[in-house]
Amino acid sequence: MCGIIGYTTRKNNSVEITLNGLKNLEYRGYDSSGIALFNGDKIDIIKSKGKISNLDEKLKQHDTTSCCSIAHTRWATHGEPNETNAHPHHVGKVTLVHNGIIENYATLKEELKAKGYKFQTETDTEVAAAYIDYCYSQTNDKLKALVEACKKFRGSYAFNVLFEDEPTTIYATRKDSPLVIGYSHDGNFAASDISAILNYTNKYSLINEGEFVKITRDIVTFYDKDLHQIEKKSETATWDAAQYQKNGYDHFMLKEIYEQPKVINDIFDRFYNNCSYKDIDLTKYEKIHIVACGSAMHASLVGKYLLQTYGKIPVMVEIASEYRYSEELITPSTLLIVVSQSGETADTLAALRLAKEKGAYVVGIVNAVGSTIAREVDKCIYTYAGPEIAVATTKGYTSQVAVFATLALIAMEEKGLLTDEMSKTIKEDLTNVEKNINSVLENREKYLDIAKDIYKHNDLFFIGRGIDSSVCMEGSLKLKEISYMHSESYSAGELKHGTISLIDKGTPVISIATDDKLFEKTVSNIKETKARGSYSIFVTTQNHGDDFSEFADKTILLPKTTDFTQPILTVVALQLIAYETAKLRGCDIDKPRNLAKSVTVE
Ligand code: AGP
Ligand code: GLU
Repeated sequence: MCGIIGYTTRKNNSVEITLNGLKNLEYRGYDSSGIALFNGDKIDIIKSKGKISNLDEKLKQHDTTSCCSIAHTRWATHGEPNETNAHPHHVGKVTLVHNGIIENYATLKEELKAKGYKFQTETDTEVAAAYIDYCYSQTNDKLKALVEACKKFRGSYAFNVLFEDEPTTIYATRKDSPLVIGYSHDGNFAASDISAILNYTNKYSLINEGEFVKITRDIVTFYDKDLHQIEKKSETATWDAAQYQKNGYDHFMLKEIYEQPKVINDIFDRFYNNCSYKDIDLTKYEKIHIVACGSAMHASLVGKYLLQTYGKIPVMVEIASEYRYSEELITPSTLLIVVSQSGETADTLAALRLAKEKGAYVVGIVNAVGSTIAREVDKCIYTYAGPEIAVATTKGYTSQVAVFATLALIAMEEKGLLTDEMSKTIKEDLTNVEKNINSVLENREKYLDIAKDIYKHNDLFFIGRGIDSSVCMEGSLKLKEISYMHSESYSAGELKHGTISLIDKGTPVISIATDDKLFEKTVSNIKETKARGSYSIFVTTQNHGDDFSEFADKTILLPKTTDFTQPILTVVALQLIAYETAKLRGCDIDKPRNLAKSVTVE
């Protein structure tokens, strides 16, 4: 979840560069941060609670001349997010930063206490530092100490480690948490992701699970788990630093919302012109499971709808944190599709590993190029949505839906279900998607107007049927994540089975009705809430007219398209409602409380 970066250089500016890199990683966690720097004499540690700007302020009071530093921005798992628990942690000769969880830290802590170690913090990470220090005292060899300690650790980690007697060398390793090595003219890096170092270099190498790295300012040496030296080629990142800037938008989230027309259009364009996954035979599997977390799971539900309704393929969608413990469901004739924007989500990764162990074929729908999930699946379909910085996903989600739309088309083709007429209509829809999303994005005032109606409420409902009910789940999550308003998403027909008791005078209900066959049914459900005093916000398509005053207090009209793009248009409207509402509530939109972009812990 957290972000780590280390830099060792021939110059004296490692703090400035490490701190800049850390700021680019802040989306990964932001409850506290810290840096360890070699000041020419010894290693100093400076830490601060809260955002990195606090650390920045604190560093202004220090001499930051340094040729080697490691830094961390935290998403606490063990111990309150305070200054003491913030990283780096220092024990004996070892100073380190850690991304992940050492699951057996309590046992190791007892073992170390018996050997005389004392602990200052509540973290699992301090125990890791102590264990590496202990192994170093036994072996007097830094790499061997790391290897021995890592054999003991259960859980996940990416470490940047400094040893007191070699303070300009960074030792690094990883298991189930990401880490890349970067090479620049003046020195070398180890960071959680490429965004941290792109301002300085686009040359990088990926570290595989269980590999060890020794990084000096002049040379980077890689070792396998048995400490045999290995060769790595360096790769060149195709992203540029500008993609990590807000480019004039108030928030990354808004920028990313506005990137959607192009991102989605590009997916459909590639599908028709240069498709790398048309060879996936969706019909040959006994069962298709789609597994993901959060918004990616919501996108999967839309995918299920499209694959089942149009491809006539039965699909099961499961959240990864449950699926990873349900091995009895997986057989060699299962096709597993895992969906992940970051490509690093621990639960999704575990589900994919389990399925591979059971002999299933695994396809990934992934955004982050070169991420662990992308590398471990049998076949990766990249969404190529570009870096997503806002913690709440927008283009990540819609690009996943777009890929599912194309998979449904592939299934239809394979099964001979795609008539020429349908093919023509759908192609026309996919070709017009950029224009249609742009028209939803126009006129932002109407979303602000709705936000003004709802932002003072603390409870809200999203209702819809069929494909709209899946979109409601994403609309509700967006609002919860960034505005901290409680909302629930319900199938419109299910409300009367209990939840309708929560509808009171003025309770906002956002209802979606884009499916013509279910339009009247949904309207009846809206009227049921209206009869109980709800404040009704109605989202529908232009083909139903424009006067809904009988049951709607506010209406959003969307272009009418096919189901292959309609959910994308709907969710864009819901994203903007969430965004404007969070803004009115004064929330930190890009970095909502308690969250982190990449959930690399179980
Ligand atoms: C989305 O806004 C969330 N913060 C979260 O639900 C996210 O979609 C989920 O953690 C999955 O992430 P992934 O796509 O990177 O695997
Ligand atoms: N488990 C460590 C802690 O709580 C690291 C968490 C992180 O990855 O930020 O401090």
